[in-house]
Amino acid sequence: MRRPLIGGNWKMNTTLSDASVLATAVKNGVAELEGVEVVLFPPFVWLYPVFEIIEKGPSFLTLGAQNMHFLDEGAYTGEISPLMLKNMCQYVILGHSERRTYFNEKNELINDKVKSALHHGLSPVICLGEYKKEDKVEAKNDVFVQLKAVLKDIPKDLIKKAVLVYEPVWAIGTGKPASGVYAASMVLQMRQTLAKMYNLETASQIRILYGGSVTADNILEFTSQREIDGALVGGTSLKAKEFISICRQVAQATK
Ligand code: PGA
Repeated sequence: MRRPLIGGNWKMNTTLSDASVLATAVKNGVAELEGVEVVLFPPFVWLYPVFEIIEKGPSFLTLGAQNMHFLDEGAYTGEISPLMLKNMCQYVILGHSERRTYFNEKNELINDKVKSALHHGLSPVICLGEYKKEDKVEAKNDVFVQLKAVLKDIPKDLIKKAVLVYEPVWAIGTGKPASGVYAASMVLQMRQTLAKMYNLETASQIRILYGGSVTADNILEFTSQREIDGALVGGTSLKAKEFISICRQVAQATK
């Protein structure tokens, strides 16, 4: 059984006090839940304050970073290394489309980051998605080209720690999510691709989430699909009540 995961990607939002209030609310709001894993992805500078808050919370509530450099250390002004993250974070988002679009990150670089994260015991949360909604053929090409490239040379025993996210770029921050059925069909094909790259058993152990305009009103449309193992939530993760409701609904559905 793959345990559902709900990630809250705060992106470049929150002041220190916003971050503390939000993390405290989530910690308290999810305390009694079972059967779900919840991961907060605050901006780098709030990782430690949020770490201190959730450390006293339930063990299924953990922390992730939104990005990282692939090297351990060096003269890379402004960058954050896996060594800085590894004792605080269990997860790190890699290959988010905003990194690709605004910071020109390419598959090769993302592949280096994925390898480095796994080497350091961090679980990469790898985002994959197509840019255009209309062209289904191109959509598939984008996603599967990305998938193969970012997982290049990653062995079977390590890949199981990774989490993939199907995030159609046209659905991110637009208020126009994919349909649950369409997302599930893409996730199924991603899993089939993993089965070809590795094997069926390995592919069936890797969690694949959906991301893109997820709200408390539509979460179950995605997680009720057998193939979809949770969600990466952006905008809605900044609203404590709604984010907690998402986590609750998913936990409830596992019963
Ligand atoms: P959104 O973002 O929920 O605001 O669409 C999702 C994401 O970028 O992970």
